[in-house]
Amino acid sequence: MDPKALKIESARAALAHVRDGMRLGIGTGSTASEFVRLLAEKVAAGMKIIGVPTSERTAALCAELGVGLSTLDETPELDLTIDGADEIGPELSLIKGGGGALLREKIVAAASARMIVIADDSKLVPALGRFPLPIEVNRFGLKATELAIVRAAGELGLSGPLTLRVTNGQPFVTDGGHLILDASFGRIPDTRALSNALHAIPGVVEHGLFLGLAKLAIIAGADGIRTVQAN
Ligand code: A5P
Repeated sequence: MDPKALKIESARAALAHVRDGMRLGIGTGSTASEFVRLLAEKVAAGMKIIGVPTSERTAALCAELGVGLSTLDETPELDLTIDGADEIGPELSLIKGGGGALLREKIVAAASARMIVIADDSKLVPALGRFPLPIEVNRFGLKATELAIVRAAGELGLSGPLTLRVTNGQPFVTDGGHLILDASFGRIPDTRALSNALHAIPGVVEHGLFLGLAKLAIIAGADGIRTVQAN
């Protein structure tokens, strides 16, 4: 099965968790976009939801497909968020932010009673870190922040290049106006310790480790759909 078909299958299975009237966080990325397309069909057929997008990109897609949106300011508590992931590790720990939306994705997920991750089975890993960890940083003091990250990671036995994300020859700028450093640390044995260490650095706005947020993963593979529940 081609990857797109798998993304559609996991998005379709997630749609079964969406009920009329729900306040719904809507994720970012190619898998989440498939979810938006399927959701738009339901909305066109009469389903009412209050959607809160996790990026300008998702907001634009929802607008194009007729999915009405609210904001997190208008609707600060959500019933459910459905989003993709770059990696899914033990206990549904995630790496997110490959699409650069990690900050809003994390804020929206944290405002939700439940988060469901949708993905194809290539995203499942025994330990997080194969995918470079996106770290959203303030533009001010970029070099100092970079050094602080290298030191903090080193204290945890982690090392590897930090690469400033660039698109079309220019630094990638997030919806919040920040930059992204992609950290190729490799396997991250203690994700909680790294999360805490990164949060302690003033120039770090947020990082792509999502720990304890996802409650259910809907994974599509050649043999069909399987679900993984967090303990
Ligand atoms: C966006 O910033 C990311 O967190 C995405 O959710 C993640 O990169 C998964 O994207 P795909 O579904 O395109 O793989």
